[in-house]
Amino acid sequence: MTTEDPKAYWEEFYQTKRTTSSGTPSGILLRVTTDMASGHALDLGSSNGDDVIWLAEQGWDAVGVDISETACERARARAEMLDLKGTATFESMDLTERQPEGPFDLVTALFFQSSFDFPRGEILNKVSKLVAKGGTLLIVAHASAPPWASEEMKERAKSFPTVASELADLQATEDEWDFVQVGIATRSAKSPEGEPAQLEDTVIHLRRK
Ligand SMILES: C[S@@+](CC[C@H](N)C(=O)[O-])C[C@H]1O[C@@H](n2cnc3c(N)ncnc32)[C@H](O)[C@@H]1O
Repeated sequence: MTTEDPKAYWEEFYQTKRTTSSGTPSGILLRVTTDMASGHALDLGSSNGDDVIWLAEQGWDAVGVDISETACERARARAEMLDLKGTATFESMDLTERQPEGPFDLVTALFFQSSFDFPRGEILNKVSKLVAKGGTLLIVAHASAPPWASEEMKERAKSFPTVASELADLQATEDEWDFVQVGIATRSAKSPEGEPAQLEDTVIHLRRK
């Protein structure tokens, strides 16, 4: 594994580790979009495409971007199989180099985190500007290491985003945004051995005024 070349790292990840799609969207995405009218959505770090495909199934015109062409190709194949080729689209893109063109009614960044340094805050700040008037920004990040984490992961967790760091990166103010949910949320999960656990996420759910 190389930590110097993010594209190579994520390609290897999708070719050897996360090789299949879960087929299910993130629980928080389901909750947040329940009462929203469908529109144009952007998902950063779209992985195998589960969230984008689910949005398209709900009537959204959804775009996923990810640095891994393998992940995008897999997501495209599944969208095509589900007859969603026109409304669930995927573009392989290094978001440190460029960003998609907006505006979007919904921008999501779910666990858009990496085991090595990258200018995540800068990317989120730029992308937050693509949220249309009345549109939603949803950023969810691991807030702490899971109980089964290795010492290395626990060490890395010390630099996970906090609510304060997320708001500072976004330069989000209540003049510009409604703070719908901003804080730490717990989520039920299972360890690799199947043991139940509660995990903590940093949730930033804003609506542009
Ligand atoms: C931890 S995964 C999260 C994936 C998914 N959103 C989820 O909730 O499971 C982070 C994703 O961000 C992507 N990524 C990392 N750096 C990126 C970059 N510079 N530009 C675009 N995507 C990137 C990775 O390929 C990976 O799919």
